[in-house]
Amino acid sequence: MTGSKEFPSGVQLTQMDPEYRANPHPRLEALREQCPVMRDQTFGTFFITRYDDARGVLTDRSMWRTAARAEPEAMILQARERNEPEALKQEGGIHNIIFMENPDHARVRPPLQKALYARVSKCKADVETIVGRILDGLDTTKPVDLMEELCIPVPVMVIAHMLGIDESRYHQFREWSEGLILSLNPMRTPEQTAQYIKGALALRAFFDAEIAARRAKPHDDLINDIIEAQDHGTQLSDLEIRDNLIGFLVAGNLTTTDLIGNGIHLFLTHPEQLAKLKADPHLINAAIEEVLRFEPPVDGTIRVASRDLELQGCPIKPAQAIMSSFGATNRDPRAYANPNEFDITREAKPHLSFGGGAHICIGAPLARLEAQVVFRMLFDRFPNLRRADNDTTWKPSMFFHGLEHLRVWL
Ligand code: HEM
Repeated sequence: MTGSKEFPSGVQLTQMDPEYRANPHPRLEALREQCPVMRDQTFGTFFITRYDDARGVLTDRSMWRTAARAEPEAMILQARERNEPEALKQEGGIHNIIFMENPDHARVRPPLQKALYARVSKCKADVETIVGRILDGLDTTKPVDLMEELCIPVPVMVIAHMLGIDESRYHQFREWSEGLILSLNPMRTPEQTAQYIKGALALRAFFDAEIAARRAKPHDDLINDIIEAQDHGTQLSDLEIRDNLIGFLVAGNLTTTDLIGNGIHLFLTHPEQLAKLKADPHLINAAIEEVLRFEPPVDGTIRVASRDLELQGCPIKPAQAIMSSFGATNRDPRAYANPNEFDITREAKPHLSFGGGAHICIGAPLARLEAQVVFRMLFDRFPNLRRADNDTTWKPSMFFHGLEHLRVWL
């Protein structure tokens, strides 16, 4: 079905739109029930909202991913390519797995994943140390904005620690990350383009220097592990190493900030769920999955059809782009009973907040670990934690869903 006056499309289905941002669910529910496969003319993509449809598309490993495979109308993908600043076009584009098709994706992702998972499996104590240090520094005499003081620093310090880069520069890493992520915004202003170029060039220069330092003298960190994988015959180019390290730093901090913030917000506004968690700490993993289902930190992800498909009777042709909306799929009543209830004891059923298939989020185990450590340590340390105001302002963003502020009394 084609988007029409009755149904919102384009930017109205992003966190840039004030009404959607305040509460996306009336719009998403209307689409899911009345137009579950909508051709969004503004972004030149199909917008899909039912759980089974999205799961099918995401886990279909024959689907494509990139602008190079998509039709010219697929603005949501093409705008990024077309607006790529000249200053960044050298070196033949970005060599990050997120923008790769097979056979490159299948060659590059496994060694990165092996190195990352090996570090994640032994970093719990380090995450606890970082979170403990941050909690020690919080001011208990006045309201504290936990977005600023906890949710932002934890993920960037953890990924910096794991990579082996200077954690104390986390403000700068965050600033560069926010610049780079503007690459995904097809509607960025000239000022934002300048911020994007600045962030991208700074990150490239920074990681070039870090890689060179390890080639001169090995360190015990994730950057070194990946360089060693290359030395031991894994087919990774130098640019692939650099751009994927940048990817780890950037993707590893922005999204996890919102998982942690959304979770604290949900527990404080659903005290009965927090009481259940405190009564049975084993519920922590289920609780994190429920936070991810209920308030997904990333709004959706894209695939490009590699063949003729039919979804809900709607034909989709090869090269047409398909956006799965996690806000909608994660609350599809066909998949979840009482989907609009935040319930950490609900029957387990995977959400789609980390995507699926070949491109499923590589950082999911790390994000889950960080959330686990923060929720446990924060709620243990501050049993009287409560909101200092009712401000639930969500950030304007093309793809991310998180709070501007989270002011609390500790
Ligand atoms: C709560 C936190 C996070 C969320 C919600 C999230 C979400 C996502 C989503 C939706 C995708 C696209 C998946 C798809 O298209 O099927 C993705 C991909 C990716 N994520 Fe995450 N992510 C999170 C944390 C992280 C962390 C901590 C890292 C790095 C350490 C990371 C690195 C990546 C990378 C490199 C990809 C591209 C994978 C590929 O294309 O093969 N993410 N993530």
